[in-house]
Amino acid sequence: MTFPPDPRRLDTEAICVFRQTTVDLLASAANSENCGDNDGTSASKVDTAMLADVVELTSGNSSTETPRQRADAFAAHLMWLAEAPLLPGRGYLLKSGAQTIGAMVTELKYRINIDNLDRLAAKELHGNEIAFVNIATDEPISFDTFEDNKHTGRFILVDRHSNATVATGLIRFGLRRAANTYFQSFEITKQARARLNAQKPAVLWFTGLSGAGKSTIADQLEKKLHALGKHTFVLDGDNVRHGLNRDLGFTEADRVENIRRVAEVAKLFVEAGLITLVSFISPFRAEREMARALVGPGEFLEIFVNTPLEACEQRDPKGLYKKARRGELRNFTGLDSPYEPPENPELILDGLNEAPGNLTDRIIELMQRRGMLS
Ligand code: ADX
Repeated sequence: MTFPPDPRRLDTEAICVFRQTTVDLLASAANSENCGDNDGTSASKVDTAMLADVVELTSGNSSTETPRQRADAFAAHLMWLAEAPLLPGRGYLLKSGAQTIGAMVTELKYRINIDNLDRLAAKELHGNEIAFVNIATDEPISFDTFEDNKHTGRFILVDRHSNATVATGLIRFGLRRAANTYFQSFEITKQARARLNAQKPAVLWFTGLSGAGKSTIADQLEKKLHALGKHTFVLDGDNVRHGLNRDLGFTEADRVENIRRVAEVAKLFVEAGLITLVSFISPFRAEREMARALVGPGEFLEIFVNTPLEACEQRDPKGLYKKARRGELRNFTGLDSPYEPPENPELILDGLNEAPGNLTDRIIELMQRRGMLS
């Protein structure tokens, strides 16, 4: 076993490699004449979108060598290439050689100031920034460290939605997660628990703006399900943020982590046999898709509580829109923080014109049609 090399020593190398890669790639691109010489071209001065295109083109040149190590977690240097920031906890596709696998940055250890090598604390990573990170993949992959092999020790990250290359990376060392943690299986299964509860466990995921009516609808739906003899639980954003997620705020990075955690909790509740109602703004498609992927097919209903911003703002049940408009609250969803409406939800509810009672009936009908209540 080789001891992991000191990342400090490797920071310098990573910057050189990324800088050289940038220069090489751009030199081979059509408009290479404007890209400057090796010494003068700083990674921070390069157009990220263009570099991402070129990295994508060249990443197909995978090596035929067989990598010697295997792990589902490793430390890496990463250069971010996309305009939208890297958000730890968000799912991307990792491509290394012929392998493509789901992956996420589990920890942004530090960002590197490429001018003086200072290590800076960071929660997000922006275009052309370089960082040292931990990455976890959905399944173990074969790899070499970049030190051992300059081809098989590299990878790129790809956005699951747009398929655009968002990062290029160097693998530094495998982490021992795969070797040291096991999946313990128990004899009482999710199916057995569900049978005892005489119901089909599922996640009913409510998404929409603050004040859209998600929690009111979830509350009324739970009462109806309860009356039908169903075992339920509501995970509500405001409540979960008082306990499990009390350390998280409302930056994009924190919201990604907020949803990642509650999605994992919802998955556990489904394994426990419960019909689980999740009422979170959950503003980003990527995390809602991640939540869906954690449970089985047919076990997830995405319910979009579609209430226009103006109506939510008028209701303003907690006075938060007013505070945000007064500039006392930043990153407020719909005002200065984005909301991405679902593209293919199982149900869209008109939270403006229809009464919660009718809306919950529609959910029950959908559950019946899908055999979720039999
Ligand atoms: S999410 O975006 O991360 O899914 P979540 O559902 O947990 O949000 O929490 C939303 C609730 O937090 C809102 O209903 C509101 O009461 C409160 N809140 C406080 N600050 C904000 C903010 N900046 N943006 C949105 N909601 C906020």
